[in-house]
Amino acid sequence: MNQPAFPDYRPRRMRQSPLLRRMVAETELNARQLVLPFFARPGSKVRRPIGAMPGVSQLSVDELVKDATAAHAAGVPAVLLFGIPDTKDEKASGAYARNGIVQQAVRALKRELPGLLVITDVCLCEYMSHGHCGIVHRAAGKVLNDPTLKLLARAAVSHAEAGADVVAPSDMMDGRVRAIRTALDGAGFQDTPILSYAAKYASAFYGPFREAAESAPQFGDRRSYQMNPANAEEALREVALDIAEGADMVMVKPALAYLDILHRVKTTFGYPTAAYAVSAEHAMIKAAAEKGWIDERAVTLEALLGMRRAGADIIITYAAKDVCGWLKG
Ligand code: PBG
Repeated sequence: MNQPAFPDYRPRRMRQSPLLRRMVAETELNARQLVLPFFARPGSKVRRPIGAMPGVSQLSVDELVKDATAAHAAGVPAVLLFGIPDTKDEKASGAYARNGIVQQAVRALKRELPGLLVITDVCLCEYMSHGHCGIVHRAAGKVLNDPTLKLLARAAVSHAEAGADVVAPSDMMDGRVRAIRTALDGAGFQDTPILSYAAKYASAFYGPFREAAESAPQFGDRRSYQMNPANAEEALREVALDIAEGADMVMVKPALAYLDILHRVKTTFGYPTAAYAVSAEHAMIKAAAEKGWIDERAVTLEALLGMRRAGADIIITYAAKDVCGWLKG
């Protein structure tokens, strides 16, 4: 029961000192919960800052290893990898190439930083000439579901072969978790967990990411596969499906505008639940902070704490390294 029973209950008694406030804090943000995304691109000594994501760059593998080393030393326990290949085509060949850009980055990271958890984003949009997350049937103007599953499964297996600790499908095709689980098991990767982007919305908050990953769809949009922001019940069905298909962890994305979804997913399923604080969430805080309108550190920590309070066990954030520093300081 959460109602005060004592007639003269005075909540401020428990807020009067930092010691008391800390003792009764219900939620905590810890470095162990954070995941830092990286964008890998071919070449060496390449460092291309992303305009709308201050502090984030596309990096060649050598530079990526450097930054990941620094982040890991600061306390970041896990990274999420995206790839920007040199060439794109209509079957996303780069997504499952043995020596694809993500596969190279995974090998380098596992070699140099064996204590870092490496999660790979499994999607085709960065590797498709048209920028969609699946195979496109141009005449029908459609993204084809089932033919796409085979490619996603190949990509996931190639990531596991390179040494990925966790694979994270973000495409939103129906049945992809089952397809990936089956393929991983068939290839001997029964122990590779799947973090499914289970409730991923068709969101305007991905704008800066598409610049970062060079993955904006060249026609149409993603609304025939990503979720309608109006829907919450449907998110629970999506999560239920992914769990039934073998997801080990589930994600809600974006985070801040979807805290209700996060809360319902956590309370309904009790699964390890991730929140993705997406590119525009980062960009908005950075831009306002640059103008001197908000306190970057305080606002970031408060937003992430809100995600924890809503039910997130894991938070994917471009601020992960800064946050680790702030949590110590
Ligand atoms: C790939 C993918 C996207 C994001 C993560 N994986 C973009 C999209 O779906 O268009 C967005 C991440 C961000 O905005 O930070 N499908």
